[in-house]
Amino acid sequence: MPNATGKEIQQLLVLIKPDGLKKSLTGNILTKLSEAKLCIVAAKVVHVGRELASDHYIHLKDKPFFAELIEYIQGKIHGEPYNRVLALVYQGEDAIQKLRRIAGATNPEEADPISIRGAYGRITTKGVYENVIHCSSDPAEAEREIKLWFDPAEIIGVPYATKKIALEKTEKIVWA
Ligand code: PPS
Repeated sequence: MPNATGKEIQQLLVLIKPDGLKKSLTGNILTKLSEAKLCIVAAKVVHVGRELASDHYIHLKDKPFFAELIEYIQGKIHGEPYNRVLALVYQGEDAIQKLRRIAGATNPEEADPISIRGAYGRITTKGVYENVIHCSSDPAEAEREIKLWFDPAEIIGVPYATKKIALEKTEKIVWA
């Protein structure tokens, strides 16, 4: 929705992928992304299971690289302790376009060399893009992805409609 200056306030999901963690790029990537002067409204480290990985890339399920893509985002290629991702939600004016420009083109070989993917990405011998970072592509996809990766309680200033449901017999791990 546009704000007083006519600019759209957007949210998007950013994932720092297992190769970004293994190459010790988290700090560099967050510094680069901070150039956009956006707000981080959620962040967590996630062990990505097969279901979450498949749901995230559901639109690519018929691509020849789908199986490798699912293994990559689960960290199966990079192994312990890099079999995880750092998931963040960024918010601000035209956030999607701003962060995707800093991230660079999806194909690391076509990405601007000073973008994150251009500087740090590679294409594996199996043809999978190890491009260090994921950024939602448009507002609808951002909403789908944010709802997939985060619960409302994990986001500051929840951007989408929520509802309350009653749960029976729930269990919770607390500090011993
Ligand atoms: S984009 O940039 O998200 O709009 O691109 P999209 O086409 O929707 O998603 C492509 C994701 O698949 C990953 N991938 C590849 N794409 C094309 N060709 C090959 N060989 C390939 N290997 C992996 C690509 O990195 C995109 O994932 P994300 O997480 O968005 O980078």
